[in-house]
Amino acid sequence: MLKILNVVGARPNFMKMAPIIAAIERRSGQASQILVHTGQHYNETMSASFFRDLQMPPPDINLEVGSGTHAEQTALVMLAIEPVLIVERPDWVVVVGDVNSTLAAALTATKLGIKIAHVEAGLRSFDRAMPEEINRVLTDHISDLLLTPSEDADRNLLSEGIAPERIARVGNVMIDSLFAQLERSGQSTILDQLGLLRQQFAVLTLHRPANVDDALTLRKIFAALREISAAVPIVFPAHPRTVLSLCESEIEPPEQMKIIEPLGYLDFLKLWSNARLVMTDSGGLQEETTALGIPCLTLRDNTERPITVEQGTNQVVGREPEQIIAAAFEILRNRKNHQPGIPDLWDGRAAERIVEALLKS
Ligand code: UD1
Repeated sequence: MLKILNVVGARPNFMKMAPIIAAIERRSGQASQILVHTGQHYNETMSASFFRDLQMPPPDINLEVGSGTHAEQTALVMLAIEPVLIVERPDWVVVVGDVNSTLAAALTATKLGIKIAHVEAGLRSFDRAMPEEINRVLTDHISDLLLTPSEDADRNLLSEGIAPERIARVGNVMIDSLFAQLERSGQSTILDQLGLLRQQFAVLTLHRPANVDDALTLRKIFAALREISAAVPIVFPAHPRTVLSLCESEIEPPEQMKIIEPLGYLDFLKLWSNARLVMTDSGGLQEETTALGIPCLTLRDNTERPITVEQGTNQVVGREPEQIIAAAFEILRNRKNHQPGIPDLWDGRAAERIVEALLKS
C-alpha cells in the first residue's frame, strides 16, 4: 500500500489538491493518504470556506504557521513539518503550486530522503523578482516526479537539464475542480446578493506584491480601473494584502467599484463565470477563464502560463493605464473575437493521471 502525504498551505493550493484527494480515495485499495495544512492561510475566507466548497476532508494535521516574512514562513513550515515527516515516513510527499509552503515542505522532505511529487511543475514567468518563481524553480529541481500541466512546462524543465524520466504530463488539475464544481456553483446567490446582472459587470482580483506593494504602480492600475468602471461596474473581492496597501497609499477606489471580502470557491466561480470581463494578476484565474472562454486581462508584464494566451482568452496587458484601458474597451465593444480553445489534457481527469503516475513511479 502506497503511503502519500499531501501538503496544502495557501488559497491557490486547495482547488489543486481537492481532486487529487478524491482520486486517491477512489484507489483506497492501493494507496492511503494524510493531509497536512501548513496554515499559511488561516482565515475563514482564505482557507476554511474552501474545504467546504471543494468537499475536502479536514486536514489530519494543521501546522498553524500563519503569516510572516518569507524567511519566517518558510522556516516555520520546515520546522513544523519535519517531525511529521519523520513519524509518518510516507512513500511520497505531494506538493502543489508555488507558494512558500510548497518549497518549505519539499525542501524538508528531500533532506529526509522522501520522494517528492510536484503538481503544476515547469511553469516559468522568467521573472526572478516574483517569490513564486523562486519557489517554482527550486521545488522543481528537488522533486523526483514533475507533474506538468502543458507542453511548454515540459520544455522549460528539459531546457533546465531535468531528465525526461522525471517528467509526466498530466494536464491541469485546477480544471478538474472547475468542472467538478461548476454545477454546484449555479446554486450560489452571489449575483443577487450583489445586485448584478449576467454579463454586465467586470471582476477584478489583485494581490501580487509587484502590483500592490508599490504605491505608484497601484495608483496607475487604479487610474485605469477608474476609467473602465465608468463603462462597466467592477466587483473586486480584495485580498487582505491589497486592502492594507490601498489604505496605506490613500487610494480612493472608484465609485463604480464594489470592494468585497474574498469569496469562497463556489461564489467566486459563479461571479467570474458570469462576468463580461475578468482583470487579474492571479495565476489560476488565467487558466480558469480560458477553460470557460471568459475574456481575461492579466495586469502583469509576464505570465508563467503562456498557453492561456496562445490557446485561450488571456491577454497580458502590463500595468500601464493606456494599455489596460484600450484592451478592456476592445472587449466591452465586442471587437475582439475570441475563439477560445481548451488546451490538451485540461479535461477534468488530471488527478486520475497524477495518481496513476504516483502508483507507477
Ligand atoms: C500567497 C502566495 C501567492 C498566492 C497567494 C494567494 C507565497 C509566496 N505567495 O501570497 O503565490 O497567489 O498566497 O492568496 O506563498 N492574510 C490574512 N489571512 C489569511 C492569509 C493571509 O489576513 O488567511 C494576510 C496576512 O496579513 C499576510 C498577507 O495576507 O501578511 C499575505 O499573506 P501571505 O501568505 O504572506 O502571502 P500572499 O500575499 O497571500
